[in-house]
This record gives sequence, C-alpha cells and structure tokens, in this order.
Amino acid sequence: MNIGIFDSGIGGMTLLHQAMLMMPREKFIFYADTDHVPYGTKSREQVISYVDAVIRFMAEQDCKAVVIACNTATAVAAEQMRAKYADLPIIGIEPAVKPAVEESDGKRVMVVATPLTVHEKKLQNLVERVDDAHLVDLLELPRLVEFAERGEFVSDEVTRYLKNKLSAYPLEKYGELVLGCTHFNFFKDTFQKLMPSGTHMIDGSQGTVRQLMRILEAKGALADKEGNMCRDWERNKNDICVRYFVSGREILDADRLNMFNDLHQRLEKMRCL
Ligand code: DGL
Repeated sequence: MNIGIFDSGIGGMTLLHQAMLMMPREKFIFYADTDHVPYGTKSREQVISYVDAVIRFMAEQDCKAVVIACNTATAVAAEQMRAKYADLPIIGIEPAVKPAVEESDGKRVMVVATPLTVHEKKLQNLVERVDDAHLVDLLELPRLVEFAERGEFVSDEVTRYLKNKLSAYPLEKYGELVLGCTHFNFFKDTFQKLMPSGTHMIDGSQGTVRQLMRILEAKGALADKEGNMCRDWERNKNDICVRYFVSGREILDADRLNMFNDLHQRLEKMRCL
C-alpha cells in the first residue's frame, strides 16, 4: 500500500524528501494541487474543498495513510477531514513552534507562514499554549510561495523581498526561525544570510514523519523490513518508489520527472545547511 503526501504545490516535497530518508522501504504518492496553488491566500471554505478532493483521490489510490504536507491545509482542514475519513490515518504538518520555544534560550522566535496559517486559530492557540515568555512573532510571507512555484529559489528579488519583510524586526534578538510553510524550505540559504549568524532554522517535517511512523507501526502497517530500499531519490526516475501527480494528473514524462529530482537535490542541499 502507498503513503499519500500532498500540498498545494512543490512545498510538500519537503515532507516527501524527509519521509524517503526516514522510511526508505515505503511507496509514496506525491500530489501537488497546482491548479489551486496558493492555498495561503484563499478562503477557509475553498481550501477545505480542495483538501477534501485530494484526500478522496488518495483514498482511491490505496493509501494506508495520508500526510497533509501543507501547514495551511492542516490548520484549516485537518480536523474536519479526520472526522470525515475516519478509517484513514491523516497526519498534518504544523509549524514547529514548541521545539523552537524550548530551544530558544530566551532569544526571540520568528514564525514565518502563509497569511491563512497566521490568522488561523490553530496556530494562535498553539502560540498561546507554549509562549509563556512572549518570545514569538508571526510573519506572513505569501510571495515566497509564488517564487517557489516558478522555481526562483535564489535571486535578487527573493533577497529584496525577505530583507524588506524582516526589516520591521530587531533581528539581533532572534535565535530561532520556524519555517511554518513547506514551500519556505527551498529558501533556507537566503534566510541564513539574512538572519543573525547561529539562528536555528526548524520546520515540522521530521516531527510529522516520526508521527506517521508511530501511527503506521501501531497499526502494524509499516513496510516490510526486507522490502526494496528507495533511499536514493534518483531511483524514482524508474518510478520505483514515488508516483507524482499534479491536481490528479500523473506525471510520466522524463523531463517533468527530472524536474522533481532537481527539487530533491535542492532540498537535500538545504537540509544539509
Ligand atoms: N506549502 C503550504 C504550507 O505549508 C502552503 C502554500 C500555499 O499554497 O499558500 O502552508
């Protein structure tokens, strides 16, 4: 059986990449809902209906679990979807605010996310719960999703945009940067240049994959330990361990599959920073 991983776009590759590293014997279906990207500037109702359609698709694809690899979709739709698809484990990524606050050692914590995530009760409640010392600031960065979707990861325009957005904050006071949108991992090198040296960058992908593993293990549904290893994403050129879909349409041509491999290479570089 498959593990379904989806996002509004290529941001979900962050989660897929991490899952392939931590669960090399599993088979994945990756779904980018590019017909509807971005989610982060749409209404809650629109996002809920997009997410519903994707989860229905995943359920039809013989998925033993679905990961919402989109902080925005988790914030607005995860609870509703769990109630609707009660037999299907649904795991959702969330901004890693708690570990960031715990590790911050009194320094400020910047949480960057989409407008919808920033305005959702779910994130605001989480911050209220863990931020006793009032160290957390929330910042919307919607244009990073646009840049990512057009493959513009490093450019003067990206730097200018981020510099401008961050200029409203006393950056020397920050020790933690929470990447609260899966698209933002593609920009870690620019964030690293703009934030004070030693700023720790964290996102929810590792915690989410750990949670996925716990749930599958408890159901006895992890892939056979003797099964084929898919550790190297280059091998998915042969469609061994990941099938890629954009808004329900499977990607089969070599050029576009190579594009996904390039994104894995970029994410591996960002992961190792
Ligand atoms: N990648 C998504 C997230 O983690 C949202 C991007 C968007 O579609 O606005 O929130």
